[in-house]
Amino acid sequence: MELRLDGKRALVTGASSGLGQHFAGVLARAGAEVVLAARREEKVLANANALRAQNFAAKSADLDVTNPAMVAAFFAHETPFDVVVNNAGISGAGAALDTTTDEFNAVIQTNLTGVFTVGREAAKAMKDTGGSIINIASILGHRVSGGVAAYAGSKAGVVQLTKALALEWARHGIRVNALCPGYIATPINADFFKTPAGDALIKRIPQRRLGQLSDLDGPLLLLASDAGGFMTGSTLEVDGGHLVSGL
Ligand code: NAI
Repeated sequence: MELRLDGKRALVTGASSGLGQHFAGVLARAGAEVVLAARREEKVLANANALRAQNFAAKSADLDVTNPAMVAAFFAHETPFDVVVNNAGISGAGAALDTTTDEFNAVIQTNLTGVFTVGREAAKAMKDTGGSIINIASILGHRVSGGVAAYAGSKAGVVQLTKALALEWARHGIRVNALCPGYIATPINADFFKTPAGDALIKRIPQRRLGQLSDLDGPLLLLASDAGGFMTGSTLEVDGGHLVSGL
């Protein structure tokens, strides 16, 4: 079974930087027509233009996943998507004692409620044709570390939400799965991983390295394409063995 998406339409939220920008390129190279969505439209416009310059089908959209009216209006004006990658997320790192309720809620609203809102509107449009929804969770949806209470809570919610939606929407031919990356090298965390604390963290990963963006390509395409046609409600951990590190 080929991991191709020719003739399919794909949406990636939070596609202005990092994983989302990378996922948009992966899906485009697999043959999908891709819509890159984020709050900073000038950034996603530049990313879509870069893909179009390589002859891939791509366009950008202004979309804040925490705004239900905006999300509903967006899907009302789009042809149904075959693949939706719920990637938009914020980290909200900080000690729990120093985290305000507003800060906690902001993480939940983006990382968990945003996944629900986008997933629901996408599924309404997918109901007749089926499709694949991929929620980007994290290994912090399964285990914890210091200073990540809001983030870990939101990502654990995404893992369980994924299973609940998979159960409800299987009858419509909609598959819902979660991808749980471990620590992936991106420009945002590059400085941290050069510090002694960053180095110590890498030593706790059984493969003794950070993930590269390209390590996510195969797992993403598996969940997006017909190759993963019998997979729904699953969580795919891509972490160099971090979750099975010894206690
Ligand atoms: P990033 O900060 O580069 O990307 C996050 C994207 O989400 C940005 O494009 C941002 O503009 C967008 N975004 C934030 N709030 C939004 C909103 N309300 N509406 C629409 N877009 C919004 O971070 P990164 O690392 O690329 O993260 C992407 C996803 O991957 C997140 O869900 C994150 O939790 C997850 N993840 C990242 C890992 C890593 O090592 N980088 C590991 C595990 C999970």
